[in-house]
Amino acid sequence: LKQEALTEIDQVNDIQALTAVKVKYLGKKGPITEVLRGMANVSAEERPLIGKLVNEIREEIERGLNLKETAIKNKALEEKLEKETIDVTLPGKPISQGNRHPLSKVIEEIEDIFIGMGFEVAEGPEVESDYYNFEALNLPKEHPARDMQDSFYITEEILMRTHTSPVQVRTMLNKKGNVPVKIICPGKVYRRDDDDATHSHQFIQIEGLVVDENITMTDLKGVLLNFAKKMYGDHAKIRLRPSFFPFTEPSAEVDVSCMMCGGDGCRTCKNTGWIEILGSGMVHPKVLEMAGYDPERYSGFAFGMGVERIAMLKYGIDDIRHFYTNDLRFLDQFKRV
Ligand code: PHE
Repeated sequence: LKQEALTEIDQVNDIQALTAVKVKYLGKKGPITEVLRGMANVSAEERPLIGKLVNEIREEIERGLNLKETAIKNKALEEKLEKETIDVTLPGKPISQGNRHPLSKVIEEIEDIFIGMGFEVAEGPEVESDYYNFEALNLPKEHPARDMQDSFYITEEILMRTHTSPVQVRTMLNKKGNVPVKIICPGKVYRRDDDDATHSHQFIQIEGLVVDENITMTDLKGVLLNFAKKMYGDHAKIRLRPSFFPFTEPSAEVDVSCMMCGGDGCRTCKNTGWIEILGSGMVHPKVLEMAGYDPERYSGFAFGMGVERIAMLKYGIDDIRHFYTNDLRFLDQFKRV
């Protein structure tokens, strides 16, 4: 019986057949079980002998089965490994690499220009109080000039900042009357505007503020002209147009000449040859006073520029929405910039 079983095990080549052999010899209806069942009829002297013999046979069959099982499994594994060999000499697929958003790059470029002129970079919250966004900027409640900046209110006293000018106030208060104050502040601002090619309900401004003794409009003009030349090239000119902001007096809107030359040639702006890039002016005495600076002793200038505008002009982008729709065909063009 043992020999028979071992020969059968030897001939088997897969797990299923092996299981069948196992059932045949060791199963409930197999010969071993049968012999054990018949032990009751065996005489007392013979019982231990037969029992021992049967156990030995069973153990050997079991050993045979186990050995075979391991052999079958090993063989299967080997075959699998053989089939799945990896060709390490195959060239890999290129990983498509992202790049930083064009607005981030432009912000950094602008920061660098101003840092080069001795400015520091400041920050402020996007969720702002009515006080910093308006009141401390000489825009009391009910002031009609608030209409210039349609706002997203969260409560009566809290809103999404409509400009980066509240950072002027926060910076001056932090400085506690010390001079010079010389900061720029980049950040997101929010206005209730209908989005179109030139308007976005959320956009980026960079605020500038300088406060010291003897600061004049000439300083404002010099700083902004230098900025325009660094940003657009030495040929760039600026033009100041009288304007109004409640927090500056006098106020001016600044245009930059737009014969813009970049790596890919030059282009002019529509009809006038000028394009507005920022609002500015001499800090209003009331704003200085509310922020703890004596307007008799100190003066300052401030400006707020629209980063998208500046980027659109620099790169010839015709729709502000391109910055916010994340179309890779647009974004990928800035890889080399
Ligand atoms: N905060 C103004 C705006 O968003 C711009 C500005 C800033 C004007 C600083 C003057 C001085 O329209």
